[in-house]
Amino acid sequence: MEFDKKYYIQVWGCQMNAYDADLINSILTSSGFVPVDNEDEANIVLLQTCSVRESAEVKVFNKISKLIKRKKNDNNGLTIGVCGCMAENQESVILKKYPEVDVLCGPNAYVELPRLIENSILGVKTHELIKDDKRDFYPQVQHKKQLRAYVAVMRGCDNFCSYCIVPYVRGREKSMPPDKIFCEAQKLVDNGCREITLLGQNVNSYGKEYNMRFVDLLNKLNSIDGQFRLRFLTSHPKDADKDLFKAIRDLDKVCPYLHLPIQSGSNKILEKMNRKYTRENYLRKIDLVKELVPDISLSSDFIVGFPSETEDDFQDTLDVMNYVEYDSSFIFKYSVRYGTSAAKYEGNVPKQIKEDRNRRLLELQEKISLRKNKKFLNKKVQILVEGKSKRNPERLFGRSLNFKRVVFTGDEKYVGKYVNVSINKVTPLTLFGTIENV
Ligand code: 5AD
Ligand code: SF4
Repeated sequence: MEFDKKYYIQVWGCQMNAYDADLINSILTSSGFVPVDNEDEANIVLLQTCSVRESAEVKVFNKISKLIKRKKNDNNGLTIGVCGCMAENQESVILKKYPEVDVLCGPNAYVELPRLIENSILGVKTHELIKDDKRDFYPQVQHKKQLRAYVAVMRGCDNFCSYCIVPYVRGREKSMPPDKIFCEAQKLVDNGCREITLLGQNVNSYGKEYNMRFVDLLNKLNSIDGQFRLRFLTSHPKDADKDLFKAIRDLDKVCPYLHLPIQSGSNKILEKMNRKYTRENYLRKIDLVKELVPDISLSSDFIVGFPSETEDDFQDTLDVMNYVEYDSSFIFKYSVRYGTSAAKYEGNVPKQIKEDRNRRLLELQEKISLRKNKKFLNKKVQILVEGKSKRNPERLFGRSLNFKRVVFTGDEKYVGKYVNVSINKVTPLTLFGTIENV
């Protein structure tokens, strides 16, 4: 069938969503679709959406409304696709309130996108959701030549934290075959990629289907020849163990950085969140990883204002942040996700209190981040140079091994290279310095 196949994808949400946009690109381009850089030139616009909090969904609904206006002005010459988590989570709302949306495609059905788009252009609206799990048919992603890349090692989640929509929209946990991951990583490195971040909702439970553990996969990937860095996201504290910490210590390509989201410092709240660890055993793991990898940087996610969270519970969270001294944190206000078990919990925390706790936790994190960053003053750090700084194009920026953002003066010829930077100024979010030697 002949029709204009120019598409544009807009992405919201997590790193997995960014990776999935690359996956969609691989699937569509191999079916003759052509990506365009400018949304206005596309006759197919795909929204790669997120459902983790209500705020993410509101943005997408606004975007859908705008696209519908364009579609009407274009005499229906536009195909609108909602892909990813909201296709699952908001299926009925979209079908009812936005009948102009042509395609709905959940995170486990992207291989069907070419057919879904072609059908809709022929006038047959169909959609593909989680009931039909097509993840086994996902092709290897064809990455562009890029300095940093994501590689999904597992998809879906079996943990059912009581606040979280992910298991409902992304389905059960599934590991990608180790050989496929290896090939994808090898090809990236061959094409000049210098930093690979392995992705999964819970990477530490990788490999059950293949009789492998996540550390075995790290070992395997660490053996790829070439100078590159290996990172991974996200680790669930109940599954992160000594073997993982030792792998961070012993494998030369694995960076000394660990994102280990605690969510709350209160045992009462952790239990209601169904996190399956206590603050005590979480902190024991933190002590262990600090002992084994003294230069490790740590980060966490926190949810404030979970149902029934009292000021005392919140104090426990502040205490944990003070004890661990995270390098950085992502702090979220609890957002009800219908269908999750917490949606039925009593003890709603008023918006104002959520905002107040959010601010106080953020302020504490900033203080700690600044204190931790000051330890880098007058030290040399190895940076992978990613490009020109957005704020000041005279400067370059990159990341240190422990994921600190570093801005420094230097020539563009260093982009893509490793350089040593001597740090002479710090803020809570950034280190500043000058190139020492190359
Ligand atoms: N409300 C607020 N934050 C949430 N997160 C997940 N679900 C919710 C929710 N319902 C946060 C968690 C998770 C991060 C990716 O998003 O902190 O680790
Ligand atoms: Fe990613 Fe979760 Fe958002 Fe889906 S709901 S895009 S898995 S953060």
